[in-house]
Amino acid sequence: MRYQFPDNFIWGVATAAAQIEGAPFEDGRQASIWDVFCAIPGKINRGDRPDVACDSYHRLEKDVEMLKALGVRSYRFSFAWPRIIPDGKGEVNPQGVAYYKKLLALLKENDIKANATMYHWDLPYALQIQGGFGNREIVSWFTRYAEVLLDNFGDDVDYWVTFNEPISVYAGYAQGLFAPGLADEKYARQCLHNLLLCHGEAVRLFRRKRLKSKIGIVVDVWKHYPARPGNQDDEALALYSNECAGYGMFLHPLFLGGYSEALTDYFREHGIAPEIREGDFETMRQPLDFYGLNFYNGLIDDARVAEEKKKAGGNFQDRPENHTEKLRDVLHMLKEKYRIQIPIFISENGVPQTDGPDLESLLDDQERIDYTKGVLTALHAAIADGIDVRGYYHWSLMDNFEWTAGYEARYGLYYRDYQTLERIPKKSAGWYAQLIRENGFEG
Ligand code: NOJ
Repeated sequence: MRYQFPDNFIWGVATAAAQIEGAPFEDGRQASIWDVFCAIPGKINRGDRPDVACDSYHRLEKDVEMLKALGVRSYRFSFAWPRIIPDGKGEVNPQGVAYYKKLLALLKENDIKANATMYHWDLPYALQIQGGFGNREIVSWFTRYAEVLLDNFGDDVDYWVTFNEPISVYAGYAQGLFAPGLADEKYARQCLHNLLLCHGEAVRLFRRKRLKSKIGIVVDVWKHYPARPGNQDDEALALYSNECAGYGMFLHPLFLGGYSEALTDYFREHGIAPEIREGDFETMRQPLDFYGLNFYNGLIDDARVAEEKKKAGGNFQDRPENHTEKLRDVLHMLKEKYRIQIPIFISENGVPQTDGPDLESLLDDQERIDYTKGVLTALHAAIADGIDVRGYYHWSLMDNFEWTAGYEARYGLYYRDYQTLERIPKKSAGWYAQLIRENGFEG
């Protein structure tokens, strides 16, 4: 069967600064919480370090060549806060600004729309030692950073994203899995609360500037389903995972207002409620122009075997099955439960391969093509159901630094040789380029 997508559907690829740029201490950049976290023995798989990554700081033109070869209409990337304002709140770094100006100019020259994230997990370390997201001052630090970005890049960015996957802050402050490596749930809850305020204030600022471009947020949804529907233990587990430790923590305050009943009860039972000031919920719930959904998998929870394993960079993609079909249900949930009526983008989707010595089989990534077809089939059905999805970004343009999984998890359409830094198209790159040319594929 042929799956054809709406005219003007935006096909893209995604990356993030800390995962591709390298050059952590060049041209004025200072450490992020990830640079410090990765230097602690035992935190990152195989002891991998993000210091070189894909060397995109020196190879921008090469990155753009790959975007052109794929024929994407949009590129999703992120700004590194410690490159723009190295200590987080002081001087602006002109060399950092120049780097992204160059990228945006190259994108414009090639008619590729820029989709840029303000915060993709790389908090300046100088702010972390002042409490990081746990310090309510972060709201003014972040708003200033947002202002520097908007004043320098404004309408050169077509789609602004305030935060990518705010759950990273939960993983980093409550679970100790991500930078900064803290495991204090009460502190983490305050961090998440403050993060949502940062988002809201940045959107308000954006509106005051009357820019023509659009603004939204990216929240990942890994929806948990009870393995035995109706079974109390499985239901309770799925409810907790969705509402108290997953997407509900964000979608509820962003789109419905306030925290959900399940989360409020959970705060009370555990004595971990954040400090909520008057007006906070209003600040968080700003009208947005679009919502970015990162979708990778649907998860089936069985309370009898519910020991969560998190390997691939802290996500759940080492599970035996991929429930790609769940994307359709997730999109319905966004519309029906969270009443999201703005355009939606699939801002990330992809699947990792495990690194190995056999280059040929890594390049012959039929499993990535099959997985992506599964996702796009579900997406096609959801669009036919009337859900307003405007685009899809594949994660990722090239293999890169997959956080705690290091370089072992390869998500790229392009293979990246970690010795020579060469980038080689995988079979999926050719397949994706054809899909973009034809605006559809044969299932
Ligand atoms: C989500 C994150 O936004 C991205 O940084 C990460 O590499 C991918 N998922 C894959 O785990």
